[in-house]
Amino acid sequence: MNLIAELERLAPSLQSGLARASSLSELEALHIDFLGRKGALARLMSRLPELSPGERPAFGKAANAVKEELTALVERRRSMLVAEAEESALARFDPSLPGRRPWTGSLHPITLVMEEICRLFNELGFETISGPEVETDFHNFEALNFPRDHPARDMQDTLFVSDGIVMRTHTSPMQVRSMLERKAPPLAVIAPGKVYRRDSDITHTPMFHQIEGLLVDKNISLAHLRGTLTLFLRRLFGSELKVRFRPSFFPFTEPSVEVDISCILCSGTGRRPSEQGGYDESCRICKSTGWLEILGCGMIDPAVFAHVGFDEQCTGFAFGLGVERVAMLKYGIGDLRMFFEGDLRFLRQFV
Ligand code: DAH
Repeated sequence: MNLIAELERLAPSLQSGLARASSLSELEALHIDFLGRKGALARLMSRLPELSPGERPAFGKAANAVKEELTALVERRRSMLVAEAEESALARFDPSLPGRRPWTGSLHPITLVMEEICRLFNELGFETISGPEVETDFHNFEALNFPRDHPARDMQDTLFVSDGIVMRTHTSPMQVRSMLERKAPPLAVIAPGKVYRRDSDITHTPMFHQIEGLLVDKNISLAHLRGTLTLFLRRLFGSELKVRFRPSFFPFTEPSVEVDISCILCSGTGRRPSEQGGYDESCRICKSTGWLEILGCGMIDPAVFAHVGFDEQCTGFAFGLGVERVAMLKYGIGDLRMFFEGDLRFLRQFV
């Protein structure tokens, strides 16, 4: 067959192929079949020697024209396919969807609770202070009227750093530090921080958090203590809360008091609504007593005032509470260890 006639059949044949090509990869295959190094056009051109020298220039010219035509056909189809692909991607793109916010971190629940409690006391005029976690025996025990043979001074409970130096076992040494620093009343401070004990089981960790509060002036009575703490607890847990004061003992307060609040799960009834309707007989947080122990407090013992050089006219109250306990109650967390494991699935919930 005439080579020129064969050349002229290339374009229509490519065209029908392109019409069926529905993807860029199919288009690429056709490109190679027709215009590649071993493609249809190249194969025809390699038959140039079959022609007489007089016919060759015309064939060369026709071949170049066909090459241009084929290339143009492929490119036109390519731009159509690209446009179609973009259009269908756009059709799937919903610009009204909300964006994905990157997680930028959040405050630890213990920090959140400490900040909230400090803020509540700041509103009442208490100033937030902080002090060292490595303490002297004097600040941690001696000045707080712990007798030499008190079990808290035993190796069982206290982490000793060296002779006379301990990891503070409570935030109460901040009472001593703040009074020594101020030298005289009035004084109202709140001191959040870490404390350490040789304890480690499901309900105790060797490090945990406390908040100490202290108010010293003249003529401060148990009524001030009671009013202040009741107001604070109701702001923290809700205005319906019942608060109960029970006699207790701490070496550095006299009288000493332990404070209970009505159970925040069963509202003090000791019974929980059951899933079947009616009531379960037992509330698991308050063990059906209806009450939860929440903090220790009392009137500052004159022996403590004597240690820091405050005169006999001084009166004041102090209190200390465990932050983990408050956080567990506020957020309904059942396992103390959650606070210390650093599991992001847990931590991400507090924003
Ligand atoms: N320091 C005590 C403890 O760790 C808590 C405490 C009780 C603090 C009574 C006080 C207080 O300030 O008055 O168990």
